[in-house]
Amino acid sequence: VKRIGVLTSGGDAPGMNAAVRAVVRTAVSHGVQCVGIRRGWNGLINSDFVQLNGSSVSHIINKGGTMLYTARSMEFMNPEGRAKALNTCKLLGLDGIVAIGGDGTFRGALALSRQAAEAGSHISVVGIPATIDNDIGCSHYTIGFDTACNTAIECIDKLRDTMQSHERCSVVEVMGRHAGYLALYVGIAVGATAVLIPEREVDFQEDVVEKIRRARLAGSTHYMVVVAEGAGSAFDIGKRIHDEVGIDPRVTVLGHIQRGGSPTARDRETASRMGYEAVLTLMSNRGNRIIATRDGRIVDLDMEEALAMTKQFQMDRYQVLEALTNNGGLML
Ligand code: F6P
Repeated sequence: VKRIGVLTSGGDAPGMNAAVRAVVRTAVSHGVQCVGIRRGWNGLINSDFVQLNGSSVSHIINKGGTMLYTARSMEFMNPEGRAKALNTCKLLGLDGIVAIGGDGTFRGALALSRQAAEAGSHISVVGIPATIDNDIGCSHYTIGFDTACNTAIECIDKLRDTMQSHERCSVVEVMGRHAGYLALYVGIAVGATAVLIPEREVDFQEDVVEKIRRARLAGSTHYMVVVAEGAGSAFDIGKRIHDEVGIDPRVTVLGHIQRGGSPTARDRETASRMGYEAVLTLMSNRGNRIIATRDGRIVDLDMEEALAMTKQFQMDRYQVLEALTNNGGLML
């Protein structure tokens, strides 16, 4: 392996830069050249790249976002787009690509590698899971999740101050796409009154009205309801609380603020280990792999098998949440 490409694709996540840095520094230290592909798969289609060396990735480990920019490429979804991308791979003399992103990024990577094989050429791909949603089936953890949790917690703690002063109810929507991990972890960590996640069918009476009622009976005068975006709109939930509980909640959609910020220790460390493993995997000629965490260990899995894996819903954590939102004790 003489030359590899690295790209970030899909929604950005804090820690992507740390992963890029680890890929580049590991490659360079093994005498492998590294090319940064900009703007995700679009960069490969449009020959939008930059030669990277050890110092190109200085001072980025602490930065949110991605120095390589990111995009969700529509063109790459069709064979014509991928044919252009394969042409760029050939022109650049790439032996492999490290693709940092989510499920969609990995599906694109696999399609590229297969199309190359059909055309009689070869390109190895290795995926690194990075998304604040933590929704990648094969990996217990995805880069960016911890930072996003901490950002959401910091915001909700601030909301709590003003909700407490005004004796109000706050309804906060957190990201997560179709997954409720962010809401589940954040809900536990902020001591929410109620948490709605897409993995559990919502019974509004039981899951919201009753929980606010119990909190009120226990002496609370302010309430925090956390809604995963995949479970519904915070504005709809707020309106129902207004109509069915008779209080006047304030609604906050945290939005893209959850995607920014300096990565936490966990995200920097995980990204660094994954970036390192990704390059070693390519160098040992094991292509079409996804680097994943399984019970805290970093492993590499066959990409096709990994993409078919689903994550077990974290019932143990949900039980903690249920216990802490149901006990009628003082909330927050
Ligand atoms: O996948 C990350 C994520 O932030 C999701 O939580 C959210 O649903 C989506 O991306 C938002 O996408 P966009 O950046 O295109 O608005």
